[in-house]
Amino acid sequence: MFEKITAAPADPILGLTDEFKADPRTHKINLGVGIYKNEAGNTPVLATVKKAEAILLAQETTKSYLGIPGTPEYGLAVQQLLFGADSTLIAEKRVQTAQAPGGTGALRVAAEFIKRQLGDVTVWISNPTWANHHGVFGAAGLETKTYGYYNAHTKNIDFDAMVVDLNQANAGDVVLFHGCCHNPTGIDPTNQQWQTLAKLCLEKQLLPMFDFAYQGFAQGVEEDAQGLRIFADQMLELLVASSFSKNFGLYNERVGAFTLVAKNAEQAVTSFSQVKSIARVIYSNPPAHGAAIVTQILNDAVLRTEWEQEVTEMRDRIQEMRVLFVATLKQCGVDTDFSFIERQNGMFSFSGLNKDQVKRLKEEFAIYIVGSGRISVAGMTKSNMLPLCQGIAAVL
Ligand code: LMR
Repeated sequence: MFEKITAAPADPILGLTDEFKADPRTHKINLGVGIYKNEAGNTPVLATVKKAEAILLAQETTKSYLGIPGTPEYGLAVQQLLFGADSTLIAEKRVQTAQAPGGTGALRVAAEFIKRQLGDVTVWISNPTWANHHGVFGAAGLETKTYGYYNAHTKNIDFDAMVVDLNQANAGDVVLFHGCCHNPTGIDPTNQQWQTLAKLCLEKQLLPMFDFAYQGFAQGVEEDAQGLRIFADQMLELLVASSFSKNFGLYNERVGAFTLVAKNAEQAVTSFSQVKSIARVIYSNPPAHGAAIVTQILNDAVLRTEWEQEVTEMRDRIQEMRVLFVATLKQCGVDTDFSFIERQNGMFSFSGLNKDQVKRLKEEFAIYIVGSGRISVAGMTKSNMLPLCQGIAAVL
């Protein structure tokens, strides 16, 4: 029966990780997948996560199922992180949250919710975007279209193109925004641009959806929610897919959340009943451990402060690598201006390296970069910086 099956293409990001792992060269450098590395090149468990796990281990009394949306404590902690502890949306019970298996799981639940409840609308996605976005929405049977986002010449946001393209959207269409640390460009709209986008969505009756996977990696945990909160102030309805892979370092625990904001409490409850029935037929109910860690940390004042410090350390180290990368490229004789990398946010930058250069970096220098030219700055360290920049200088 299986003889007719043809091979699927390797995933552009996770497939590259497999190739990297299989590469026997000891000097190899992985700037593919977005995983935080410390100065020693490791991805350690956060100290606050270890502390929360110790508490959970001591207190845990059962492995019984969670409810379909996970625990209410987790849902509330997620909502407060998104909209602020004193959010009126939360007080008015207009927000409902379901724990989901990772940010991708949250996006997939969102996609299914959109398709089943909102019909054949189009989902507008930035160009470029995370390599999996079109796949996730397409898997739910939704049509996706792109809006301009990046100007390769100025290495900055192409806000005019964004507005022009989104003006083509029809009432009811969904617009996917990256909450902060746009993946892959590292360029976010300014607050003023967020205001303009919110106004546009309001006027054109578009449904905003935020993919929020890097909260804390741009300016700070609160600061990074500005764009979302500008929308939340103006829009009656919106969707959010959160991920805690990066800011809690809980990659393999698959902990995320799907949040919906409705016009009023009643519509929130009714809409959320549909979210629960979607989760039930995909994974029934979510895994407990990762979400319990996040809840423990966010609800304990001491752990929460320590966690914010850990996020700050990660953010600062990446920023330091951005500066060092630009300086080391210069040192290696590269004339091209890479200073834009210092101005970008989060784990990624769009290097401008083309497919051939990316291929040569892998084959000749064991340097792994996503085919689009996206580099994970979070994978750079002081010790891999020189060979990395020498390799880049050689292929430029
Ligand atoms: C990335 O963009 O590298 C991460 O979000 C990991 C993934 O799942 O692709």
